[in-house]
Amino acid sequence: MSAPSHQSKSRPDLNETINVSQAHGKLARESAATLREKRLAEHGDEPVSLWVILACGIVLLIAGGVLGNAGTLFAYGSTFRKDYVRGKAPGGEDAGPVPKAALAAFSNRGQKIYSKCNGCHGADGKGDGANYPSLAGSEWVMGDTEKLAMIILNGLQGPTSTGKTYGAGVMPAQGAGMSADDLAGVMTFVRNSFGNSSGDVVTIEMAAEALEISASRANPGTPVNAEEIAAEHMKMLPGEALDPTTLVNPATLAPAE
Ligand code: HEC
Repeated sequence: MSAPSHQSKSRPDLNETINVSQAHGKLARESAATLREKRLAEHGDEPVSLWVILACGIVLLIAGGVLGNAGTLFAYGSTFRKDYVRGKAPGGEDAGPVPKAALAAFSNRGQKIYSKCNGCHGADGKGDGANYPSLAGSEWVMGDTEKLAMIILNGLQGPTSTGKTYGAGVMPAQGAGMSADDLAGVMTFVRNSFGNSSGDVVTIEMAAEALEISASRANPGTPVNAEEIAAEHMKMLPGEALDPTTLVNPATLAPAE
């Protein structure tokens, strides 16, 4: 077979060593087999092309970025609390949150309690001029602490420190469920925010005194008014002053060791 096939490449096969019909038959059989082998069945399970997968990835990336910007998908604020620092590894004692200067720590606590007040007095403490007075620069916020505590715990029957009466003329009591810690915090906060800067801390001990003074008023459960404030509450709450730079535990407000 090798001689004739070699011959056929160089010159015509004059000896007719190749059986043409046999060769054709072989060709036909082989190509039929090839066709059978290569037949592609379309049954829906074909692998997806790579570019489709890549396109999906890009769409997901963009969608993730958009949702993330809206603050929903990739917002870690609720997972990682502000100012919280993990304690030492197991085995060591948990060091808890990092100590903070008392003025900042009490104010931070108070800022949370101020959510009780901001519906009326506003997030900026400026009130609205008609129904709610401003706490910024208010004489009853600054100065003696006892009157401020009495207003927060019992509410206020107008007029206010400026002689003006606002809206319905009465502020409802805010003392329900308020602990000494909360009261100390919110007083320290309003005395050092909105442009107010008393620079001092109302301690938990002072706030606890305020709770007692409030409970032993002649007419407990009624709002205080200007006369009662002038006659009885123009004083500082008793208790030892706390240096505003003293380091305290921001969670408990107790002095840090
Ligand atoms: C429901 C509305 C409301 C809430 C809540 C409220 N207040 Fe008031 N507050 C008033 C009104 C109204 C007055 C004025 C009362 C008047 O004119 O008789 C007032 C007056 C005051 C005053 C006197 C200001 C001055 O200069 O005379 C202080 C201080 C005060 N509020 C602090 C607070 C604090 C602190 C809180 C949160 C713990 C609070 N208030 C929550 C409505 C509110």
